[in-house]
Amino acid sequence: MGGALASAPPIYLVNPMDVITTIEGFRTARAGLGQLGLVPTMGYLHEGHLSLMRQARRECGAAAASIFVNPTQFAPHEDFTRYPRDLERDMRLLEAEGVDLVFVPEVGEMYPEGFGTAVVLPAADEVLEGAARPDHFRGVATVVCKLLNIVQPTRAYFGQKDAQQTVVVRQMARDLNMPTIIVVAPTVREADGLAMSSRNSYLTPEQRAAATVLHRALTAARDLRAAGERGGDALRQRMAEVLAGEPLARPEYVSAADPLTLRELDEIGPRGALLSMAVRLGAVRLIDNLLVDL
Ligand code: PAJ
Repeated sequence: MGGALASAPPIYLVNPMDVITTIEGFRTARAGLGQLGLVPTMGYLHEGHLSLMRQARRECGAAAASIFVNPTQFAPHEDFTRYPRDLERDMRLLEAEGVDLVFVPEVGEMYPEGFGTAVVLPAADEVLEGAARPDHFRGVATVVCKLLNIVQPTRAYFGQKDAQQTVVVRQMARDLNMPTIIVVAPTVREADGLAMSSRNSYLTPEQRAAATVLHRALTAARDLRAAGERGGDALRQRMAEVLAGEPLARPEYVSAADPLTLRELDEIGPRGALLSMAVRLGAVRLIDNLLVDL
């Protein structure tokens, strides 16, 4: 009896996850679903991604994930070819979360010969990540636009971890009258404060220990704000000081900016401030941010 049970095929109480590589196949599978939440990712999934999947399922009933390491958002000298990939592990994690559809296209499916359109937000390229990574947001906006058109989700979920990306995606959706609701979810962190990121896997043990300095710098500036400081220079200075205390960290920028326009602030205004930074630890480039109130 026990033996017969053990060898029985699995009984799915919910539909098994559908893994789809073609746009046409995805459209067919999607047609069978009503409300759908989409979480676009580049894979090598961690708890930050999975918390977005859970929220999508909770709010929409059904969830789709896309896994696509998008070449057009990487500069030639960046880490596109060595970006971490583990599709099998990702699939197990998504299945365990009860994700309904997974879209895993090849580069040629997304960018066939003759592809020639881009979504460009010139203002985004002038500040923060856009200034540091020319063409990055052109790549992000274009691929997210394509994914939203392919998946046609009710809602699409993005992490606060990539703050400027959320500003770019929201503006694109608004400007181009996209019907999908853009949802932004909080940054998920390791116990010591390091924001989860697929790129954390590049860190050596020494760099991993030093990487807590980003969160320490952000919370130091937040504490200064809580103590009454409103000056942008003072907040940027505080972050720079904390970063300077970590010999392995090479800061690329520190910022206290308007959360909407992303312009550097002289004084924190009614919208509060987005405190953010990019820091190199060896060859690894990490970003993090915190929102603070007026
Ligand atoms: P990726 O870096 O894989 O991230 C996918 C989504 O997970 C993004 O919305 C990102 O902000 C979110 N995320 C990453 N780390 C997080 C964390 N620690 N806490 C909460 N959310 C987190 O961002 C991209 O991919 C790409 O640019 C993409 C939008 C898929 C377009 O190619």
